[in-house]
Amino acid sequence: MKYLRWDETLFRDPDVFDPDYLPEEYLYRESQLSRLKANLKPAIRKSRPVSTLCLGPPATGKTTAIKLLFNELKEFEDVICVYVNCQIINSKQQAFAKIFEKVYGYSLPSYGTPFLKVYSNIMKKVVGEEKVLVVALDDLNFLLDDLVVNEIIYALLKAHEEVEGVKIGVIGIATDIKLTARLDERTGSIFHPDEIFFSPYGRDEIRDILNSRAKLGFYPDVLTSDALEMITDLTFESTDLRMGLYLLKMSGLEAEKRASTKIEIEDVDRVSEGGKKVFLRKLLGALSEDERLLLREIYSRDNLTSGELYEEFKEKMKMGYTKFYEMLNKLETIKLIDTRFDQKKRGRTRTIIKRYNSEVVLNALKDN
Ligand SMILES: Nc1ncnc2c1ncn2[C@@H]1O[C@H](COP(=O)(O)OP(=O)(O)O)[C@@H](O)[C@H]1O
Ligand SMILES: [Mg+2]
Repeated sequence: MKYLRWDETLFRDPDVFDPDYLPEEYLYRESQLSRLKANLKPAIRKSRPVSTLCLGPPATGKTTAIKLLFNELKEFEDVICVYVNCQIINSKQQAFAKIFEKVYGYSLPSYGTPFLKVYSNIMKKVVGEEKVLVVALDDLNFLLDDLVVNEIIYALLKAHEEVEGVKIGVIGIATDIKLTARLDERTGSIFHPDEIFFSPYGRDEIRDILNSRAKLGFYPDVLTSDALEMITDLTFESTDLRMGLYLLKMSGLEAEKRASTKIEIEDVDRVSEGGKKVFLRKLLGALSEDERLLLREIYSRDNLTSGELYEEFKEKMKMGYTKFYEMLNKLETIKLIDTRFDQKKRGRTRTIIKRYNSEVVLNALKDN
């Protein structure tokens, strides 16, 4: 086995696994992206963009979609894109301070400027310079106060009537599918967003997304396909893509800790404390009672060969070699164990290798 040298690392770029990293490859979201793009397109022709709501569970790529499009829009000087993270604001004042900052390029004094002054200064500049303003309100559902949600959206869209020639588009983003139910009559009458849904990813989609990220973050061939499959399963179970990104990074660090040039299942296993129980439970669920007994036998012992195991098992279970052999193969196929032919020993006997930590498997067998 090759070992990592002191000055070697598995990471081509560790930042790739941070949740706020903007991926070069944004997969399986073509329809959402093109609809958003179509809604924003009027902005580059100095018209009003179509107001939009992006809705879907966490980690379905909503923020990523907006950030990617805002990046693309940077080349159009007449479009000012403002990204407002509603997780860190809680008033209309704070939202508009953020917009002011983007429009003017400097921030307001931390307190004291009346809202109307901030508002009219923003509009003055937008109209005066013939710009189009696009405001993304991300994680709107974090604004607990309905009044604040309504005030912000209303103030933005009402500007058309109050200031001549102003062009503003609003993109709301939320996990709450029923967000529009939180709008009051006044706001609802001027905000008719095009709703774009971001559905949860399927297992294969998760694998492809994680794999594409791993290719950017790790050197070639670092991530073994077993490790990728395991991370995919854990991620799918958790329904959160961020869990997968986290596991990729942590298992990379774990592999480095043991100076391995590859990330193996044992690395994932070690970092996925909570997650691995879920993963194992799923595997064990596919086993018959006999197979579970065999697995328990294997994980209760060390350095076992298939010959020795058979000798013990045939006594206990009154079972022929063929049946035993099939069961062993199954455990290997679903990757609970590995077996290796031993050069020094004759015949069909194989050395059995555990793929998991014994304690974890024995505990999972007990719980199951
Ligand atoms: N389709 C995708 N392709 C590549 N990466 C994705 C995709 N969807 C989500 N991600 C990644 O998953 C993480 C969560 O996505 P994010 O856009 O923040 O989701 P949301 O805003 O819906 O909660 C980010 O790191 C993002 O890069
Ligand atoms: Mg988000």
